[in-house]
Amino acid sequence: MSKIVFIGGGNMASCLIGGMIANGTPSQQILVSEPGEEARQKLSDLHGVDTTADNQAAAGQADLLVLAVKPQIMGAVVKDLAPALSHKPAVISIAAGIPLSALENWLGTDIALVRAMPNTPALVMSGATGLFANSLLTEQQKQIVEQLFQAVGIACWVEREELIDAVIAVSGSGPAYFFLVLEAMQKIGQELGLPQDTAEQLSLHTALGASKMAIDSQASAAQLRQQVTSPGGTTQAAIGRFEQQGLEDIFRQAMTSAVARADEMSKDFSS
Ligand SMILES: NC(=O)c1ccc[n+]([C@@H]2O[C@H](COP(=O)([O-])OP(=O)(O)OC[C@H]3O[C@@H](n4cnc5c(N)ncnc54)[C@H](OP(=O)(O)O)[C@@H]3O)[C@@H](O)[C@H]2O)c1
Repeated sequence: MSKIVFIGGGNMASCLIGGMIANGTPSQQILVSEPGEEARQKLSDLHGVDTTADNQAAAGQADLLVLAVKPQIMGAVVKDLAPALSHKPAVISIAAGIPLSALENWLGTDIALVRAMPNTPALVMSGATGLFANSLLTEQQKQIVEQLFQAVGIACWVEREELIDAVIAVSGSGPAYFFLVLEAMQKIGQELGLPQDTAEQLSLHTALGASKMAIDSQASAAQLRQQVTSPGGTTQAAIGRFEQQGLEDIFRQAMTSAVARADEMSKDFSS
């Protein structure tokens, strides 16, 4: 039975632990190291897991070590852990902006490393995670890592580490794009005369329904859009205006900016 140790017991760690336990991982298999006493109590009350405030002692027991602290403190935390990892557990970082080269600088190149990019909907078990591993991750470790993230949504491996920046642009930052669209639809729905509550309910359930249809259907997003766009109808009037205003290009510029920022952050947090 692999011991899974979390360094940092905040929102994302708690959500991954909840997902794993709901999927059948025994709570005794999980240990969390977290400085906050209140946070430790909450984790053991909520999930029945063991907790500690001693990162090194916890890491020393790990078969799989999940680094779940903020990117800004990752360097200091990992350098401090390094002496406790001579048994070479697989190490997963979920921090945005920490490249594997930084983890290798702090931990050495002879350790299996995974860079994971989950997103906020993991907190409601509907996450989308991109994963990249170095060549030392075994097939068995790969399966455990997949199970960990599939417990809170879907998980996809990417072939090159640079593609994690594309994952950040699509799914990492993606929830906020949809929130922005919802904000606009709700605001304009009200401008068109709908009560606030009605505009909110209609837009939220439209987003849910469209997403469910796209997930359940064999058809592509473009085909689904064409199916609901009758020539000369209201949807065509709206879509035509989006296209005329260059919506796709606005998305291209926005997502390219996200990639550029991810690259800058990698440099900022790597020392
Ligand atoms: N939340 C998301 O949706 C999301 C999505 C993708 C990636 N991530 C990544 O996941 C990581 C965690 O994010 P989060 O949202 O879970 O943040 P969080 O709620 O702030 O959790 C981080 C936890 O680490 C604890 N911590 C601080 N210093 C520590 C130390 N020296 N040793 C061990 N634990 C320490 C913090 O305790 P204190 O509060 O007492 O300082 C806090 O409980 C980040 O790197 C973030 O980039 C998060």
